[in-house]
Amino acid sequence: MSYLKNDRYLRALQCLPVDYTPVWMMRQAGRYLPEYRKLRLKAGNFMTLCQTPELACEATLQPLKRFDLDAAIIFSDILTIPDAMGLGLHFEAGEGPKFVKPILSNIDIEQLPIPDPEQSLKYVMDAIRLTKKELAGKIPLIGFSGSPWTLATYMLEGGSSKAFTKIKKMMYCDPKALHLLLNKLSTCIALYLNAQIQAGAQSIMIFDTWGGVLSHQCYQEFSLYYMQMILSQLTRGVKSPDVTSYVPITLFTKGGGLWLDHIMQTGCDAIGVDWTVDLSKIKHKGQVAVQGNLDPSILYAGKSIIESNVDTVLTEFGGYNGHIFNLGHGIHQDTPVEHVQYLIDAVHQQSKRYHYD
Ligand code: CP3
Repeated sequence: MSYLKNDRYLRALQCLPVDYTPVWMMRQAGRYLPEYRKLRLKAGNFMTLCQTPELACEATLQPLKRFDLDAAIIFSDILTIPDAMGLGLHFEAGEGPKFVKPILSNIDIEQLPIPDPEQSLKYVMDAIRLTKKELAGKIPLIGFSGSPWTLATYMLEGGSSKAFTKIKKMMYCDPKALHLLLNKLSTCIALYLNAQIQAGAQSIMIFDTWGGVLSHQCYQEFSLYYMQMILSQLTRGVKSPDVTSYVPITLFTKGGGLWLDHIMQTGCDAIGVDWTVDLSKIKHKGQVAVQGNLDPSILYAGKSIIESNVDTVLTEFGGYNGHIFNLGHGIHQDTPVEHVQYLIDAVHQQSKRYHYD
């Protein structure tokens, strides 16, 4: 019983029975879609696209017009928070994100403001409100943020990184300073995600894209601890026969496959896993939901390879409740669009055998 026409995604997040396995894709709105590239050109640059609610709403809806997806994710970026903290985000063509004012000293950390999400990030809330209206209860809308650790990597390295030397140097040489930054980020993220929930986001995903570069001890101290702190501050609502009365939270640490037990203990509703994880080995299936985990590069291959790999993922997960089919990371920008249709058709058709609704 809910006003949503399709609540498979929310039901799976609560480990309730569904008729087939819900499916959405990380970065489902993006450059592999010709209509996205057109919209991006019209916007002029990526940040204008994010900061104009009508355009962000249009980008969110684009993949839904093509594919029968079970969830929408608001079009935005994880780096909106550091931008709102005054670091000045911009994207150079083919170079990825850059900050005008990366963090260079402890004083920079101490001086970072905690932005009010309904002020400097109001454009995200407006995009959520508009998109919710446009979706008209068809499918649920996901809100998101980066994890404190992942945001801190960009803020200290000044952009994307391969070796993470600046943040790791701080972690080992001046851990107090890094903890101050992570604490501040956690406060910002909790406020930001609660504002997204207030604006209408029906589930939340935290992207810990770079948690997997940490040692297992450091992962707990510098990434998981702060994600748990955020979780404890989110207004998740209450579970009831109407699944929309509760806002489930998914934690995704890329490369975190060895730490799933610890991630589950945070009290998250779902764990996101990349393709290095064998879903048949995950413990407590049916109690904590699992999102994943097809290697996005499989979408370069043809129909039959896609179908057999979808079958492998579904078989490894098995006949439990609580699976959300997804890629193990974002879709590649040179993915052939028709191959996405093969993936979605395969999930719909093949997953029925595991559901008796
Ligand atoms: O999933 C969706 O459809 C929603 C949109 C979304 C974007 N970024 C749009 C985007 C989401 C959920 C993100 C999250 C994000 N952003 C993450 C976490 C997820 C992950 O991939 O690990 C990270 C690490 C970022 C940071 C970021 N944003 C980078 C490194 C880049 C440049 C490199 C790249 O992959 O393009 C971006 C830019 C970005 N964010 C684009 C899109 C569609 C491409 C920008 C463009 O149009 O030129």
